[in-house]
Amino acid sequence: MTGGPAVPAAVLAGVGGYLPPDVVTNDDLSARLDTSDAWIRSRTGIAERHVAPRGTATSDLAVAAGRQALRSAGSPAIDAVLLATMTPDHPSPATAPEVATRLGLGNVAAFDITAMCAGFVYGLGVAAGLIAGRAAEHVLVIGAEVLTTVVDPSDRALAVLLADGAGAVVLRAGTPDEPGALGRVVLGSDGTRGELLRIAGGGSRERQSGRPPAPGGEYLRMQGREIFRQAVERMTESSRSALEAADWKSGDVDHLVAHQANARILAALGAELDIPAERQLTNIAHTGNTSAASVPLVLAEAGADGRLRPGDRLLLTAFGGGLTWGATTLVWPDVRPGR
Ligand code: UT7
Repeated sequence: MTGGPAVPAAVLAGVGGYLPPDVVTNDDLSARLDTSDAWIRSRTGIAERHVAPRGTATSDLAVAAGRQALRSAGSPAIDAVLLATMTPDHPSPATAPEVATRLGLGNVAAFDITAMCAGFVYGLGVAAGLIAGRAAEHVLVIGAEVLTTVVDPSDRALAVLLADGAGAVVLRAGTPDEPGALGRVVLGSDGTRGELLRIAGGGSRERQSGRPPAPGGEYLRMQGREIFRQAVERMTESSRSALEAADWKSGDVDHLVAHQANARILAALGAELDIPAERQLTNIAHTGNTSAASVPLVLAEAGADGRLRPGDRLLLTAFGGGLTWGATTLVWPDVRPGR
């Protein structure tokens, strides 16, 4: 082998998370929808969720989580901000430049990533590529959502599932063998099944149809059962590929950190991968499904409460509309979430 300069690896250097203070319980939802605490707990594992108060948009949550991740990383100079979201402040431009400005990061590269619930893992892959290509030394990757703005209040399946929040990490250039280095980021998509989870209105397809906007087209619609099946299958597949790339067996994984879609999806995924509940990190019972925010939110919480210890081996995976999915591995470094 010829020895050219080593390709830098993306290494996790900081983590943060932010949940808006307002909490909606299952009983609160049951008071206005035909549902019940028992149904929601048994079908989703959710007991309560945080929701953004009126006037709070995605950038507000993203700035709060981003600030914590920056503090956790020791406030390095950031070269790029990647914001994974399906609920940007505006359809255009991207929300990331505003977040970068409000965080005082200057005129850095900043753009949004639209891969729905897989957006944060896609962000890790893009950030790793920027670092490997020496376009950036420090990248802030944020997942932030105000999903309650795209839920039809009368859609009981999504109203009980979806919630608001933000999580973030800082990745820095380092070496592949040090704690925190991301393994291969495995990403995939299947555009033949886009209709399973989407917001149909508001885009060029609708505007070019020659018809007036369909009522309710601004809301997210989901074919829950098929999305459930696809989520388990795709997170299993991509997790296996990420494990293979790291040369790990599922028994080597201390913690599975999967997108907090539904507790039953997490149980089915754990069964497929042979990673039981004791080796999974989860917070869905009190956060609900926060889409792109969910994986970094779990990392921030588990890092703060001691469930995550330096040296622990993690498998991260997520699945979302598009369809999109991804997975990667890392050994937890000695980082504490910022405050
Ligand atoms: O974040 C990534 C994307 N999202 C996901 O991964 C979520 C994937 N899907 C799911 O989590 C589940 O499909 C849901 C939680 C959304 C629904 O659970 P399910 O067990 O798949 O229920 P279902 O859609 O098959 O519906 C079963 C029944 C239906 O009634 P009928 O037709 O059997 O009479 C629904 O109308 O449950 C009913 N139902 C409800 N009942 C009470 C659906 N939502 C509710 C509700 N309360 N909130």
